[in-house]
Amino acid sequence: MAKPISIEVWNPNGKYRVISTKSMPGTRWIKLLTDQDCRVEICTENKTILSVDDILALIGDKCDGVIGQLTEDWGEVLFSALRRAGGTAFSNMAVGYNNVDVNAATKYGIGVGNTPGVLTETTAELAASLSLAASRRIVEADQFMRAGLYDGWLPHLFVGNLLKGQTVGVIGAGRIGSAYARMMIEGFKMNLIYYDLYQATRLEKFVTAYGQFLKANGEQPVTWKRAATMEDVLREADVISLHPVLDKTTYHLINKERLAIMKKEAILVNASRGPVIDEVALVEHLKVNPMFRVGLDVFEDEPYMKPGLADQKNAVVVPHIASASKWTREGMATLAALNVLGKIKGYPIWTDLNRVDVFLDENSPPPAACPSIVNAKQLGISASKL
Ligand SMILES: NC(=O)c1ccc[n+]([C@@H]2O[C@H](COP(=O)([O-])OP(=O)(O)OC[C@H]3O[C@@H](n4cnc5c(N)ncnc54)[C@H](O)[C@@H]3O)[C@@H](O)[C@H]2O)c1
Repeated sequence: MAKPISIEVWNPNGKYRVISTKSMPGTRWIKLLTDQDCRVEICTENKTILSVDDILALIGDKCDGVIGQLTEDWGEVLFSALRRAGGTAFSNMAVGYNNVDVNAATKYGIGVGNTPGVLTETTAELAASLSLAASRRIVEADQFMRAGLYDGWLPHLFVGNLLKGQTVGVIGAGRIGSAYARMMIEGFKMNLIYYDLYQATRLEKFVTAYGQFLKANGEQPVTWKRAATMEDVLREADVISLHPVLDKTTYHLINKERLAIMKKEAILVNASRGPVIDEVALVEHLKVNPMFRVGLDVFEDEPYMKPGLADQKNAVVVPHIASASKWTREGMATLAALNVLGKIKGYPIWTDLNRVDVFLDENSPPPAACPSIVNAKQLGISASKL
């Protein structure tokens, strides 16, 4: 017999059984569920990534909803099991849901929640941090210092790139890409070039107005340009940050050929999803272009790095922590829990993803709505009038 999975139980007599495959930050999410008659079971297994079999064991014979993680493979097997257990609700604790087969979930009548909005600024701030760390060689310099190698100021020591007045390129100017662009424009007076399938009207208006403000104050105005092709961004920008969703159109968006058209001293940042970059090609490019630098939060085969990447001094690497601020992680847990609760209770779908903060106010009860269910339309969930 398979070894039972260890769990922590809240409100054991609750009517609805809701599982969280991981412990999540904060306690509000637990209270919101237990106050609404849910028995909450949190997996406490000492294992970073649960297998499909582990999750099947957690779902068991009766389960109304599951909060899962982006490291898990949510497809046919798990959704059919959840349905058999009487479940109708699933939420990723993430905005991206490339680990979820939404069609399979829809086939079994299961809603797929995600957590947009609450991680926008936090993720953009990490992308900005990686941009700075890579352009000013912070990690290399830190290692040098700790190794006791510093024996005095030198004109050539860790010379990097100045950002002010340079061009920042954004690929995928959605919520996070636009927030990142603003940080780099406001903070470092960079000019913007972006590529997206859609026009980023609000971002364009902001840059225009900010440019006018700078001009009125006797400073060089910033400018923006919407590129016709992604290659235009790659050729022109000094710092390029990737923020698209991961899907068929963005898999290996950055490959050998596209790396080759970038400036030799460009900075490339990825805080979207690992497979957006062909990591093998990137390692080769870093090897032959020592002044080309990269800041990576995500990797093609997480938790692994492709061979050779760890040896490259011109790469700054962090373990998928872009959304890791306390406020954001607690908010993500809350939104994921409310997606599951709302689907179980038959609540309508919230329609304004720019206003998810109403779900996060600790001093008032959240609206009776599902914050974000990506297959709401396919499942015929009505729109909230709140
Ligand atoms: N590293 C992390 O921890 C972390 C945290 C949050 C989000 N993310 C990733 O960031 C992604 C973006 O999040 P968001 O909230 O900004 O989503 P969003 O939907 O607001 O923005 C995504 C943008 O990508 C654009 N896009 C789609 N296909 C494209 C293509 N082929 N070329 C160019 N642009 C394309 C879309 O038009 C959209 O504007 C998520 O899907 C997720 O994978 C990562």
